[in-house]
Amino acid sequence: MAELKNDRFLRALLREPVDRTPVWMMRQAGRYLPEYRETRAQAGDFMSLCKNPKLACEVTLQPLERYDLDAAILFSDILTIPDAMGLGLYFETGEGPRFKKVVRTEEDVDALLQPDVVNDLDYVLAAVREIRSELKGRVPLIGFSGSPWTLGTYMVEGGSSKDFRHIKEMMYARPEVMHKLLGKLADAVTLYLNEQILAGAQAVQIFDTWGGALSGPMYQEFSLAYMTRIVKGLIREHDGRRIPAILFTKNGGQWLEAMAESGAEALGLDWTTEIGDARRRVGDRVALQGNMDPSVLYAPAERIRAEVARILESFGTGNGHVFNLGHGIHQFVDPSAAGVFVDAVHELSAEYHR
Ligand code: CP3
Repeated sequence: MAELKNDRFLRALLREPVDRTPVWMMRQAGRYLPEYRETRAQAGDFMSLCKNPKLACEVTLQPLERYDLDAAILFSDILTIPDAMGLGLYFETGEGPRFKKVVRTEEDVDALLQPDVVNDLDYVLAAVREIRSELKGRVPLIGFSGSPWTLGTYMVEGGSSKDFRHIKEMMYARPEVMHKLLGKLADAVTLYLNEQILAGAQAVQIFDTWGGALSGPMYQEFSLAYMTRIVKGLIREHDGRRIPAILFTKNGGQWLEAMAESGAEALGLDWTTEIGDARRRVGDRVALQGNMDPSVLYAPAERIRAEVARILESFGTGNGHVFNLGHGIHQFVDPSAAGVFVDAVHELSAEYHR
């Protein structure tokens, strides 16, 4: 494998010194880029794009051609696992993800296949290998998965949800069934992330998009406990380097102390938590990733730069910051705004690393 030329991102996750704050964007390959829309049209639809390693590699690299990003993220989706468990994932245009089968009863949970990651999700692993080879050591590649709780919400609700009616009913009325489902998912996610690492992923992120819909005790029992189990089961070193893990619970800012006990090297923050406060609370134990509101990218360049400056100052001098948006970049953002953002992070952060 080619030697890594830019390892700022991996160093920052391990709280080691860097020359500038590294930056990447959640959903950096996506619909705001015209070249992405073109490749997706060529593939036919979103899932066909995910299942074609050459095209998945192409869209992974598109944002790196435009911007001076410090990491690439595998182009795929968190819902590949429930698909491989037999639920039949499809995307209705403009409606988000849907499943042909939903999981509502203990029998449904028992009927779920334990995915054979190497065969059923071979298209993901092939994409990881392809991307690593095409990156030629330019920047590290991030692998990812959804958290068991977040995957569970889509599987039990049958798609996106606002109130999580069915999964919360399962959690409160049939907690043993809920635990059985989450246990199966935690095993699948651990295997999945480890195969991504063996295929070449150099860091991994667990997306817990819906953990923040839970009360504190329920978050601990039904989301964090399973993410902790996954982190403890991960391969922690590959090709002579530490493989850092990042936990991102959207709306999880009040639970950072508990998340810092998970064994993950870094925590992702959405924009509702002040990064300087988060650093004072847990910065001696974990690195922090985030946390600009993606909507700032609708503002003029000077406003974007001011917000980058404010977040850098809030974190302060020293190690352990990976700059990112607090959630995925929106599809209606002008691509040039993303360039202003990335350049501002590099330019304005140098003084915090002297
Ligand atoms: O960050 C990246 O560039 C990597 C690619 C990536 C995608 N999805 C591509 C995608 C990643 C890391 C994800 C994760 C994901 N997928 C999450 C967790 C992160 C988050 O955003 O909270 C979730 C909840 C999903 C499930 C999912 N996939 C939804 C709800 C949707 C539809 C919503 C939407 O934005 O339209 C998707 C589709 C999806 N995944 C798209 C992309 C680029 C858009 C599909 C398209 O091209 O039409």
